[in-house]
Amino acid sequence: MHLFDLGYIEEPFIGLCQDYPDSTVYPIENFRIEWGPIFHRGRLDGSARVLLIGQDPAQNEAIVRRILVGEAGQRIQGFLAKLGIDRSYVMINTFLYSVYGNVPAKIKKSAAIADYRHRWLKALLTTQPIEAVVTMGVLADEAWKTWAATPDGRNFSALQVMIPHPTKPESASDGDKQKLRDETQKMLSQWNTALQTLHTAIKHPDQEQPLILYGDTWQPGDKVAIPDFDFPPGLPAWMRESDNWARRVGKDLTAKRRNITLTVPKGVVPKP
Ligand code: URA
Repeated sequence: MHLFDLGYIEEPFIGLCQDYPDSTVYPIENFRIEWGPIFHRGRLDGSARVLLIGQDPAQNEAIVRRILVGEAGQRIQGFLAKLGIDRSYVMINTFLYSVYGNVPAKIKKSAAIADYRHRWLKALLTTQPIEAVVTMGVLADEAWKTWAATPDGRNFSALQVMIPHPTKPESASDGDKQKLRDETQKMLSQWNTALQTLHTAIKHPDQEQPLILYGDTWQPGDKVAIPDFDFPPGLPAWMRESDNWARRVGKDLTAKRRNITLTVPKGVVPKP
């Protein structure tokens, strides 16, 4: 049996996918708008208990049209599993399009970017029984605070917890192996603190279970595969279970923006 995500079949989500900001709001110098917007991952059917906010989609996401499906997604799926949440979640990103380069201050403050994000937040918070919000990284946290200061945001009272972005250890260590170990340990310890708060706050997990915290390093089972019911129909298992199958390649920056090369992992295709 192949389960899949039905997609955007009800309002307000149909409208959100019909009418979204383009390059007049997301400048093409700062965002890879050539790959289109990527909206969400998870439940839109009134069953999501945890809302997560990430940063921006990468190349895997551009192909499967759902967010947080690569390394960061599998790490956060493991985080949710520790809370007994294996289905009742929904995720959006701070940005609808993949960031190109650094995010300039004026983009961080863009009212038009925030307005559309606020439409999504309002849609989710009024249709889903959200018990906790998890923001991943500084930009997501700022996005949440901007929303929380609006009249609609002030009406929402559930817990919000900020955690370091799941790939912060890699971005903070710049290839230095010792630094990567230190940053990973630091992140897992901060995730443990967040888990303890969230475990108490989430009243309706999918599985009632004791909280088992992270160790100092990644352990087998800490990363969890993303379930088939989060993806559009018909995706091959390797797209859901592995990472690094989509790469931006090209001889210069423009060529890299124009190209995502997909490679089926070794072992999937039998040798002749
Ligand atoms: N992919 C996403 O969609 N969001 C992130 O924050 C990271 C990777």
